[in-house]
Amino acid sequence: MFLTFRNAKKLVAQHDTPLMVISKSRVRANYQALKKALPRVQIHYALKANPHKGILNILRQEGSEFDVASYQEIKWLLDIGVDSTKMIYANPIKSVPDLVRAYNVGVEKFVFDNDTELQKMARYAKDADVVLRLFVDNNAAYYKLSAKYGAQPKHAIRLLKKAQKLGLNPVGLAFHVGSQNTRSEDYINAIKTSVKIYKEAKKKGVELELLDIGGGFPVRYGHKKTDNGHVDAKQILSDVNAALEENVPESLEVIAEPGRFIIGDAAILISRVIGKSKRNRVIWYYLDDGYYHSYTDLHASNWKYEFVPQRKQRKRHKIRSVLAGPTCDSYDVIAKSIWLPELEIGDLIMSPNMGAYSTAISSQFNGFPPAKTIYVD
Ligand SMILES: Cc1ncc(COP(=O)(O)O)c(C=O)c1O
Repeated sequence: MFLTFRNAKKLVAQHDTPLMVISKSRVRANYQALKKALPRVQIHYALKANPHKGILNILRQEGSEFDVASYQEIKWLLDIGVDSTKMIYANPIKSVPDLVRAYNVGVEKFVFDNDTELQKMARYAKDADVVLRLFVDNNAAYYKLSAKYGAQPKHAIRLLKKAQKLGLNPVGLAFHVGSQNTRSEDYINAIKTSVKIYKEAKKKGVELELLDIGGGFPVRYGHKKTDNGHVDAKQILSDVNAALEENVPESLEVIAEPGRFIIGDAAILISRVIGKSKRNRVIWYYLDDGYYHSYTDLHASNWKYEFVPQRKQRKRHKIRSVLAGPTCDSYDVIAKSIWLPELEIGDLIMSPNMGAYSTAISSQFNGFPPAKTIYVD
């Protein structure tokens, strides 16, 4: 962890809990590692993972471009001086007002995966560059995005031709192998499928110039013993790079939309024990952050957060405990059986790897505000 409890206590004295501490140097290092691993790829950071202004500023300085899902995300980028041509509107579904505003401020690339969206874009974003999102296998992902989006490859040529007919400019193909995808095959197969469609499209008179390989690159969460701990992102990126080299013609510009990989391990959440009780001989601790706030990834199967208590104790003195969030809702339980030393009210708990899909999703449920975000170097 990039933060000691001594430093955490100082930060908490100044800012209180819950506190999301972001390492600026880790954000930079993650961006650079990805650039190095995929030299051919122009990174478009996916704001949805964590749109905090400080992160966007760091990435802009590094040369990142951006994946946006709504006009609000476009606005956050415009506010810090990012040019609208450096954005791809990657949400396959756009409300008409958002689409019109995006088009009017100069966003050029829009992703779609169905006929209705094409018609909407033909009307409200005339002559826009459109990118077809394909359905791809995402079995090894913790979040299976293909369950919601992606046109079946067999419909690809028809949709690209239809885009042309409607006066739009079909420029590329996109896929997303699901978030936290831990297996190279899904990426490799998706690249091969895309190239096949690119070649077929060329024969049918649609000259594509862009391949968007999405996000999904995994972060190592949890202890080495868990399946999560065995994630080998380096190997996956090396396999993806090899697949790009082998399969993708030079004429195709390649972009990616990573979110989690850039910000996931660059943040530590500090929360505090605010309550304690014994229920059926099991000790429960209530923290000031929980499922409805930063710990929302519990949705995903297999998810394991790490909880590091400030109070140290020998292993044999650890007690089976439950950790819960602060709301009245019984779903707000973030660790059902965890061995911890006996904690007291006011004790701090640190969770590493909390940068992605945490404060970005956090609600105000029961009147508890999202964790405050601060930066360290
Ligand atoms: C269209 C799109 N692009 C990029 C991402 C970012 O994915 P990840 O954070 O897994 O890299 C997502 C995640 O939901 C997405 O839906």
